[in-house]
Amino acid sequence: MEKRGQWATNIGFILAAAGSAVGLGNIWKFPRMAYGNGGSAFILIYFLIVFLIGATVMITEFTVGRNAQKNAVGALRTIDKKWTFIGGMGILTGFIILSYYSHVGGWVLKYCVAYLTGGSKVYADPVNFFLEDILGAGGVFPIEGAIIYPFIFIAITAFVVIKGVSNGIEKLNKVLMPTLFILLILLFIRGITIEGASEGLKYLLYPDFSKVDANVILAALGQAFFSLSLGMGVMCTYGSYLNKEENLVKNTFMICGLDTAVALLAGFAMIPIAFAAGIAITEGGNAGFAFISLASAFQAMPFGTAFGALFYILLLFAAITSAISILEGTVAYVTEELNISRTIAAAGLSVIMFGIGILYTLSQAYANLKGIWLDANGVSYPVLGDFMEFMTDKLLMPLGALLFCILVGWVWGVDKAADEISSHGRYPFKLKGIYTIMVKFVAPIAIILIMLGGFGII
Ligand code: TRP
Repeated sequence: MEKRGQWATNIGFILAAAGSAVGLGNIWKFPRMAYGNGGSAFILIYFLIVFLIGATVMITEFTVGRNAQKNAVGALRTIDKKWTFIGGMGILTGFIILSYYSHVGGWVLKYCVAYLTGGSKVYADPVNFFLEDILGAGGVFPIEGAIIYPFIFIAITAFVVIKGVSNGIEKLNKVLMPTLFILLILLFIRGITIEGASEGLKYLLYPDFSKVDANVILAALGQAFFSLSLGMGVMCTYGSYLNKEENLVKNTFMICGLDTAVALLAGFAMIPIAFAAGIAITEGGNAGFAFISLASAFQAMPFGTAFGALFYILLLFAAITSAISILEGTVAYVTEELNISRTIAAAGLSVIMFGIGILYTLSQAYANLKGIWLDANGVSYPVLGDFMEFMTDKLLMPLGALLFCILVGWVWGVDKAADEISSHGRYPFKLKGIYTIMVKFVAPIAIILIMLGGFGII
């Protein structure tokens, strides 16, 4: 059995967990969502959800992990053998997510290369660069978008994970996360000062509560869970590498704060840039926005190639640090439970995920690959890529978060959790009363509502 890794420093842990949380979700999902759902009215609701419900689930995962100092499956077994399956479910969720996340990461890498080499390939035809070159819509097999770039992306991810917790993951996050912040602030300054920015800013700042209905609140809840990387035991695994002496409450708020700050900065950077270029923000889905609309916006603005390079590098850093955390969750399980070496586990798993991901990319346009889905509207056959996202976003992630809360709130008991949260009395857990209500009632009910909403039942 290999020796278990540990974070060398508390700030290393904070940056790594923030690195997991800050991902594609913050940069391409959040801005469009805030824009379409009432601007600052949405932002306010999102804030409340993150700091009340999101923080509750996050600290719950951290606590379970740190208590046992084991991978997600082992940590849950430590609490109650019967609940070990939640860990297994989390591993499966991570497996599916990384299969597609690594491919999207590969597309981002291709954009980085295109912009760093002058951008002319994208500019020649932004729509076809994405649909044909990357996704193969024209009928030519997309070797770069489906094989070469995703492979490089997952190889980098595996390499860092193989280096280990403090030597690989922590070190990389300590460099990439501060860099990401600097790039984002540059882009933010560009966004709010661009000619015509005031229109976009007004739109984002104006609190339009008439747009806020139950569906918008459900969307905010779902986004918060996704953005904070909750529900699949990744935060549980990261928490398991944390020293018992550190303050979990403070760390949780720091991580939630960083994740939200990135989402907001991204929103206030991207929406004005898109506005100034006269781009329809709500059309074309998230991928269409990040890969086609924004590419046209960069083309239209002064020094657009430089800002484009900056944006896609930022997106790449965000995606890599998230991908690493997902792989680590799975690798921790395989090394500790099945006694396989870290190197073989990381390399083997990433090859399989990469392989499954090929189908994800091909299903977007090149090949007719479908999944099957059942919701209140009956049976449907979404493209395989959407099917994989539905499985994780609508089913497995919320279910994982729900079971984590029920296990800790009702089976393990808040007293034991609170004892671990307070580092056995070292840091008085002043929020215990609120936490109890949140973890036993509010969070589970909110999650059940998200799931019912996702399946069109309410
Ligand atoms: N939080 C990531 C993002 O915003 C995505 C994500 C969801 C994730 N679940 C995760 C990342 C679990 C790591 C682990 O893009």
